[in-house]
Amino acid sequence: MNFKEKLIDILDNILDLDRESIDRLIEAPADSSMGDLALPCFHLAKTLKKAPNVIASELKDKINPEPYFKKIEAVGPYLNFFYDDKMLKKVVVEEALTNGTQYGKMNIGNNQSVVIDYSSTNIAKPFHIGHIRSTLIGNALYNIGKRLGYNTIGVNHLGDYGTQFGLLITAFKKWSNKEEVEASPIDKFLELYVRINKEAEENPALRDEAHEWFKKLENKDEEAVKIWSWMKELSLIEFNRVYERLGINFDSYNGEAFYSDMLPAIEKELRDKDLITISDGCEIVDLSEFDMPPLMVKKSNGTSTYATRDLACAEYRKKTYDFAKNIYVVATQQNLHFKQLFKTLELMGYDWAKDCVHVGFGMVSLEDGTLSTRKGQVLYLEDVINKAVSKTFDLINSRNPDLENKEEVAEMVGIGALKFQEFYNQRIKDYVFSWDKTLSFEGETGPYVQYSYARCSSLINKSGIDPDLNDIKDELLIDEEINMLKEIYQIPSVVVDSFEKYEPYFISRQIIEVVKSFNRYYYNNQIITDDKELTRHRIAFASLVKTVIKSQLDLLGIATPERM
Ligand code: ARG
Repeated sequence: MNFKEKLIDILDNILDLDRESIDRLIEAPADSSMGDLALPCFHLAKTLKKAPNVIASELKDKINPEPYFKKIEAVGPYLNFFYDDKMLKKVVVEEALTNGTQYGKMNIGNNQSVVIDYSSTNIAKPFHIGHIRSTLIGNALYNIGKRLGYNTIGVNHLGDYGTQFGLLITAFKKWSNKEEVEASPIDKFLELYVRINKEAEENPALRDEAHEWFKKLENKDEEAVKIWSWMKELSLIEFNRVYERLGINFDSYNGEAFYSDMLPAIEKELRDKDLITISDGCEIVDLSEFDMPPLMVKKSNGTSTYATRDLACAEYRKKTYDFAKNIYVVATQQNLHFKQLFKTLELMGYDWAKDCVHVGFGMVSLEDGTLSTRKGQVLYLEDVINKAVSKTFDLINSRNPDLENKEEVAEMVGIGALKFQEFYNQRIKDYVFSWDKTLSFEGETGPYVQYSYARCSSLINKSGIDPDLNDIKDELLIDEEINMLKEIYQIPSVVVDSFEKYEPYFISRQIIEVVKSFNRYYYNNQIITDDKELTRHRIAFASLVKTVIKSQLDLLGIATPERM
């Protein structure tokens, strides 16, 4: 049951408009004293040839609001509708009874495939704080899509190919050895990478050597492949440790190298379709007509590019998954790359180019400057996680020293804090990473939401009642509860919007509203009282809120400790 749909049904019977037009007209008033839904009558004035306020009051007399709306008010040119409390409660409770901690589960996806490319870290480079955004946003979209009935496919498009591997192999062979690297792989790779980039500025011969090594890798030279596979293996061990702690999974780790065999076919296809131009010895796709620089297909030294690999990859994904959407969760720095990529796919004649989406996000920087691998100034994600967890541990230790499994809880809350702050703003915004803000347990933070969940849990335990949502009684409902029911009622549509706009922050904001309302309610009202029926009612309410918090934190990949 959906109130808006019911209102459309009502209006459809009395207005000479199609359902879609009515749908577009209906608004949700910002001020709840003006009702839960409103019909502004300005647009009807022309066809009905009456003043909007006259239309509003005439419509009011014509409509029987029951059983979905408890009243209708005509206020000036607006017709305001108020949800019926009993109906509201019924809808929310039924949804919670049906789907439980999957509150808002629905099947609008019809099992269509949605490929989500996220995290996509680079082999032999640090998994740094900048990657946290793609990793977490992508994973949230993956979970949200699943809940909405899509067959989401998570792909870690590893950066495991390209000229930088030529540089790394060169540097490794010149300045390091196996033992040294294995002692601390990523640090050593980073050091080598920084060094060779610096030295190559003075000594261009190093670049030529690096190109040679990359070409060897492309030609499957035994030594090149061996060093490269070893680098990849060492890096993945490090990355997987982080993924495991973050609770992040992928269905595929097909990275750039996976597509290397398909590149000749792509080049041929581009040539056959007359899309290749030779410029300065390079093969390019000219995009000047679309106000874009050319897409580089092959460099003058014969090596392939990131873009060619992405063309092959997009085709492969269409063939393999027949996606309805192919989503790339990648920093906005790559806006141009994806514009070129999608345009080229379109020029190749693929109508599914329109189903490819770049979900960009702003940069994370440190308080003392931006992050750059080349300068070597990086904050490792794993160190950030460790620090978050240990600071959380100290806090828990001082607040609740007797808590069992303090370490386990600190891991859930520390990581939850990092994740929640990531989801708290529009993804497009840049932000400066701040320890204080991330780990603050005050205000609208992950720990605050988790703490509220634990509060519901402890209330239920303390009451000794086995909560039953059927104990929420119409006649006992108070305004604060009705208000919470409205916020909870909105959740499914918030989840749908968040998937449509690729914005997990819609979800974090909505759950914060529910949690704030619950905490206010908790301070203003006694939950466990002498009145058995009232206690059962309120405990059932706490249990509803608990279920709903979990349903949303699950989408964001945030754990829900029962005690804190
Ligand atoms: N590895 C790239 C980076 O870290 C991101 C890859 C995104 N995915 C893609 N299909 N291009 O910048």
